[in-house]
Amino acid sequence: MSKTDSDRTASYKVFVLDDEEITVKRLVKGLGSSSELQVKGFILASDALSAIKESPPDIFISDIKLKDANGLDLLDRIKVIAPETVIILITGYASIDQAVKATKKGAFYYLAKPFSLSELRQTISEAIDFIKSRKQRDLIMERLGRDGRLGNIIGSTPEMLQIFKTIKQIAPLDCNVLIKGETGTGKELVARALHSHSQRKKGPFVSFNCGAFTEELIANELFGHEKGAFTGANSTKVGLLETASGGTVFLDEIGEMPLSMQVKLLRVLQENTIFRVGGTKPVRIDCRFIAATNRNLDKMVKEGAFRQDLFYRLKVVTINMPPLRQRRQDIPTLVAHFAQKAANKFGKAVPKVEQDFLDTLMDYPFPGNCRELEHMVERAVALSRRNTLTAEDLPPDLWLIQEPEMENKGTTSLKKLELDYIMDVYKKTGFNQSETARILGISRTTLWRKLRQFNISPKKQA
Ligand SMILES: Nc1ncnc2c1ncn2[C@@H]1O[C@H](COP(=O)(O)OP(=O)(O)OP(=O)(O)O)[C@@H](O)[C@H]1O
Ligand SMILES: [Mg+2]
Repeated sequence: MSKTDSDRTASYKVFVLDDEEITVKRLVKGLGSSSELQVKGFILASDALSAIKESPPDIFISDIKLKDANGLDLLDRIKVIAPETVIILITGYASIDQAVKATKKGAFYYLAKPFSLSELRQTISEAIDFIKSRKQRDLIMERLGRDGRLGNIIGSTPEMLQIFKTIKQIAPLDCNVLIKGETGTGKELVARALHSHSQRKKGPFVSFNCGAFTEELIANELFGHEKGAFTGANSTKVGLLETASGGTVFLDEIGEMPLSMQVKLLRVLQENTIFRVGGTKPVRIDCRFIAATNRNLDKMVKEGAFRQDLFYRLKVVTINMPPLRQRRQDIPTLVAHFAQKAANKFGKAVPKVEQDFLDTLMDYPFPGNCRELEHMVERAVALSRRNTLTAEDLPPDLWLIQEPEMENKGTTSLKKLELDYIMDVYKKTGFNQSETARILGISRTTLWRKLRQFNISPKKQA
């Protein structure tokens, strides 16, 4: 697909597959009259597949019931061999079930027979809009590739760009790194980037959660044990630090490490040797240590909950991950990134993101940071029916997150009463604007204006 908006002769290749020859003929003739479309018809799925393999069309229109295949199975194969092709399914056996199945599998649209040629043209025109916007998004992503991201870490604010610079600078040095930041801000992502930009990249990256084990278990996991070290130790176990030799050890939630273990870890960092539990022979290890925490280690050091000497050993370089609410301008790019990730995961086409989807997210404080955003997008991608993400695909409580600010605090103003009443009806109708407006006896436009006035992100107009 090499079309651009400015390309006047832009035409889109369309394949039509149906087991009824007469239908194929009708569609090829009907659609072929448009100068924008180059249409080719097929009666056999096998023929269509070979043609797709040879040169994938922009749009593929297929019946679900076919002579030599099932349309839904065909969809799976096309998603693999021609992931960019937009698929429109048609069927004479329309049912919600199949429609849902088809859209989940990544069909762009689903048309029930009988349909008019103009309905099909309308759908094709939506598909073309989708292709154009995808192209534009790819261009943006490409441009961003230069400076708005580092591998799969996205960020364009000065702090994030500084983090990317730091990662590139210190990754090749074998120094220890401490990554600080709230939950879900991408600490592990950064740790992995440090590893993959280092000379140790061919070695293992081993992640260890210091908060998930008791003291004995931590020693056993990190250092391993000799045969007979304790009851049940029937054979020698190689610990994680030995397995990670030549690579990077990621000590996650380092703030949860018990004090007694902190001493042992300090010794490892100082001497680069370990003793297996029950062992007397020192074993040399060769790892780089990256630690992460969402706790305030400086404060813990002051309070005696974390050893100062270990703290200094770990934080040769410190990276502070900013919370998402401090870099909202990255939300649109993160959404595009997560949508793509989710689409790959579910085997769906990458959806188009509507403005109201982004607008709604822009107001949200994101206590769970990027991880929370990722989950929201993933959920929306799973639920989206027509390969577009709209505000309706977000959890309803998101629209109500912002507490409206009232001028006369203390007294209940008429405005506040009005808001309470509107919200009450709005919630009861399941956030249905038309229904809310009807009950309140006002027009939808008035309702919309009032919602805006009260700073409540309104749901997309149906
Ligand atoms: N800047 C970013 N760009 C792209 N994806 C991100 C970014 N930050 C976080 N993510 C994604 O968000 C999710 C959470 O990130 P990660 O596990 O690295 O966070 P964390 O800081 O280690 O969280 P926790 O403290 O809860 O362990 C991951 O799926 C990660 O890929
Ligand atoms: Mg983590």
